Amino acid sequence: MEELIHVEHLVKEFPVRLGIFERALKGDKKPVVHAVDDVSFSIGKGEVLGLAGESGSGKSTTGRLILRLLDPTSGSVLYGGKDLAKVHVKEMHLMRPKMQVVFQDPNGSLSPRMTVGEAITQPLDIHGLLEPGERKDAVLNLMEKVGLSPAPFLYQKYPHQVSGGQCQRVVIARALITKPDFLVADEPIAMADVSVRALIMELLKDLKDEFSMTYLFITHDLATAKYLCDRIAVMYLGRIVEIGAKGDLFKHPHHPYTKALLQAVPIPDPSKRRTSEVVRGEIPSAINPPSGCHFHPRCPFAKPVCSEARPPLKDMGGGHFSACILD
Ligand SMILES: Nc1ncnc2c1ncn2[C@@H]1O[C@H](COP(=O)(O)OP(=O)(O)O)[C@@H](O)[C@H]1O
Ligand SMILES: [Mg+2]
Repeated sequence: MEELIHVEHLVKEFPVRLGIFERALKGDKKPVVHAVDDVSFSIGKGEVLGLAGESGSGKSTTGRLILRLLDPTSGSVLYGGKDLAKVHVKEMHLMRPKMQVVFQDPNGSLSPRMTVGEAITQPLDIHGLLEPGERKDAVLNLMEKVGLSPAPFLYQKYPHQVSGGQCQRVVIARALITKPDFLVADEPIAMADVSVRALIMELLKDLKDEFSMTYLFITHDLATAKYLCDRIAVMYLGRIVEIGAKGDLFKHPHHPYTKALLQAVPIPDPSKRRTSEVVRGEIPSAINPPSGCHFHPRCPFAKPVCSEARPPLKDMGGGHFSACILD
């Protein structure tokens, strides 16, 4: 499969702001948050890669780095073979509309003073796409496609006059109006009511096929990734601990963290409900992550060797990789 996105040794550290006393205590050594810690993967054209893991594992930061909404501390992102760090400002301006993002909170992404129609039209205005006279028809057309119907009626409404589910559709329409090749969907259903989640997922799937888009689908639970994704990468404290085709990962998970996350996936039959705790303890701080395998303090199988060195991603065959030295 032809690659659209290629991420190599991506690192993002955020400086930590300290108070005057903490600074005096720590001396010159400036602490950082290790949000993304040497991550490499690629996404094929037309593929959906799921990025799963608990909150704080670095998923959103990875998404922002790929879209160049953030500059990496080191490492590179290739988009269609082009290194985004080396792309000229003018060319980047042309590439921007081709790479879009949908965030989890539709209310945070929509201005209360803009009508639905204005919000969806805005990216066309910003990027100077289509003739001004053609924009309204294009917006109305897309609104119908994403289920904002009747479009002429909803076009004039303000965000507070439509439902939460409709707001999320507006955000999706606004991301799609520029006809992107690549979409980062950052927990797009996390804030939605249970009743609209399935509808939004279905919509994302239909739109992907219709517009032949490539997705990075970010989620904190593996159950949602199962529906839409071709491959899944599991992230823990800034690192990918396992990556593979969806079927392989669900049927033969290798990494103890993936296994723990899979235990959290709800089982429909109540008589078979598991009682064990999902993952013991809390995700440690990304300022001082544990040595060796980041997961070892919470891992039920941990041995002393696990705290010694970072385990490499080992090839399990068929494009399936896992970073556990005990495997
Ligand atoms: N702008 C920022 N400044 C400082 N720390 C940040 C910033 N953005 C994210 N972080 C930290 O980086 C880590 C990863 O965050 P994030 O990428 O949002 O994870 P996720 O999306 O998986 O929940 C967290 O510890 C978070 O607190
Ligand atoms: Mg996030």
